[in-house]
Amino acid sequence: MNKTDPKNISTTIRLTQFTKGGGCACKLRPQDLETVLDQIPVMHDTHVLVGTDNHDDAAVYKINNETALVETVDFFTPVVDNPYWFGAIAAANALSDIYAMGARALFALNIVGFPSKTLPMEVLKNILTGAQQKCKEAGIPILGGHTIDDEDPKYGLVVTGSIHPDRILTNGNARPGDLLILTKPLGTGIITSGIKKQLTPENVKNNVIRQMATLNKHASEIMLKYPVSSCTDVTGFGLLGHLSEMTHASKTEATVKYEKIPVLPYTEKLAMENVIPAGTKNNYDYTSPFVDYAENLACYQKMILNDAQTSGGLLIAIPGKHAHPLLDDLIKKNVNAHIIGEFTQTGTGKIHVR
Ligand code: CO
Ligand code: CO
Ligand code: CO
Repeated sequence: MNKTDPKNISTTIRLTQFTKGGGCACKLRPQDLETVLDQIPVMHDTHVLVGTDNHDDAAVYKINNETALVETVDFFTPVVDNPYWFGAIAAANALSDIYAMGARALFALNIVGFPSKTLPMEVLKNILTGAQQKCKEAGIPILGGHTIDDEDPKYGLVVTGSIHPDRILTNGNARPGDLLILTKPLGTGIITSGIKKQLTPENVKNNVIRQMATLNKHASEIMLKYPVSSCTDVTGFGLLGHLSEMTHASKTEATVKYEKIPVLPYTEKLAMENVIPAGTKNNYDYTSPFVDYAENLACYQKMILNDAQTSGGLLIAIPGKHAHPLLDDLIKKNVNAHIIGEFTQTGTGKIHVR
């Protein structure tokens, strides 16, 4: 890689300085969002197989008995300084909801906000190139999109996928006795905050960029060979936020074990130094009413469990006897998967952290 290669991670323009929050940590506070959404009547349509009821990852619309469309959109402000990798990460993140539903991605459209008066057009070119390379890896084309002149750079994709109507994986079907598998370590929100404050060494930065740019496609394809009950991906609302979507939608309770949860190197160090994005603190407030933490858990550990992830892993619920074969298969194919807990009993969505 030479200096002019857009993949070269060190850049002179620091994209993250153009925005306050980065990546999925720039989501609206879930509390505020819910208050508004509760006031908007839901529209019903008999073709809708997955709508807004359970905060699922993507909408699913039935075309006929064989085919349903899966539709999702995600975009955010720069999570890293390098434009190429910002584009690649935003694309991997947007595609993830398709894979979390067990669907196949078909094509995508760009969503772009760009400050054309303050940034050279070369930056936009590199964002789009990074996204295109990532979509190529996913096996799908980008077929256009929409661009506006904007103060903060923003980028993301609308992704259309397809699925058989009988094989949709929602977040609402986890059952007592299912084990819980997570396919990427936590910590991207905390580490990218550290990067923004220039507190992270180069190898930590490269490692988190590589992880965020990793597609969940591979993990999803492996998962689909097993009788998985339920799946979602871990993004802006953190592990406990997305797990609580699962426990609430599935009317179950779950227990996770802190020491089983994979965490990116350097995350704990930064969290102990209180390098915590605002989105992560909001998530902690949001999940507190339904999380019961072990007394010996430190505050920084609770923050990690609520850390707003960008392009995080899949969170898979699978009956106990199938969990280890799936885990072995994932690990054998280089997915950094771990069993982190289990669904214990029917209930009202409570999560216990041990
Ligand atoms: Co999602
Ligand atoms: Co999403
Ligand atoms: Co989710």
